[in-house]
Amino acid sequence: MSAPGEIRSLRARRSLLFVPGDDARKIAKAAASGADCVVLDLEDGVATDRKLAARQTVASSLSSLQFGGSERLVRVNPVGSELHPGDIEATLSSRPDGYVLPKVESPEQVQQLARRTFPSPLPLLALIESARGVLELKEIAGSDPRLVALLFGAEDLTADMGAVRTRAGQEAAWARGAVVVAAAAFSLQAIDTVFVDLHDEEGLHRESLDACGMGYAGKMAIHPKQLSLIHQAFTPSDEEIAKACRLVEVHARHQDQGKGAFALDGRMVDWPMVRAAEHLLARARAAGKI
Ligand code: COA
Ligand code: MG
Repeated sequence: MSAPGEIRSLRARRSLLFVPGDDARKIAKAAASGADCVVLDLEDGVATDRKLAARQTVASSLSSLQFGGSERLVRVNPVGSELHPGDIEATLSSRPDGYVLPKVESPEQVQQLARRTFPSPLPLLALIESARGVLELKEIAGSDPRLVALLFGAEDLTADMGAVRTRAGQEAAWARGAVVVAAAAFSLQAIDTVFVDLHDEEGLHRESLDACGMGYAGKMAIHPKQLSLIHQAFTPSDEEIAKACRLVEVHARHQDQGKGAFALDGRMVDWPMVRAAEHLLARARAAGKI
């Protein structure tokens, strides 16, 4: 694991496009969508009587389809469910790039998935989407070196809390903040919840910008048409990149002259601003912009 707070160079995970694992047509579309990650779902997106068929469709899609530069992830059913072991058995030999584990509530669940998928050193992503999961964040975030990201699932969480989902999202705000803080403390990526209103583009863009501003690295998507707005929100603009480069350069020059804090364009600059600029440049690098 990296040291807490260290800026790791990470794979871009601006968008994680979910696709029901039993729908070969949608999987083919997802493979060609340009999403940073495609999540082939065996859990909530698949009807109970289609679960076994979905395993076969996911396995054959992984073996036969080209996914371009997209990371190919499989979301299995939760550890402890009857379906979980068979989900892994049926998909591991088709060489996914990683697994998404839903409804994570303890470090042991992540460790169990790590053991089950051993010796493949596959990245694991944990969905935090229950009250218990939020309370156990610190233990889960530190559970296994193969864990690379925490995903925040507001729909399941608010259902678990008995809360009413609103457009402003204040019912999920505390947990949304807790997930990104836990991820940062353990140098993991944080991925924001789905935006379920397929017609509200302005709402999706605003929520994506909010998440990016909070420190989230990306957002889950449920439809290919959500990808361009999500990518736009999580990719630093040319202007932001130029500003960050300048700040880092000017800071280095002042350090050489023995000056810690200095003024740039009428604003005080010291280490926190430099670290923020370095974070932005790491995101730009991951997105292939520099
Ligand atoms: N991945 C890939 N392709 C998708 C897609 C997805 N998640 N969602 C829609 N598409 C495709 C459709 O197949 C359709 O292509 P076609 O016209 O060539 O058949 C096209 O995009 C337009 O789809 P549209 O008619 O707007 O949506 P829909 O009514 O077919 O599907 C949903 C709506 C919500 C059912 C669908 O978007 C979906 O399955 N999303 C993922 C749900 C999921 O995985 N949930 C669990 C995780 S939160
Ligand atoms: Mg769910």
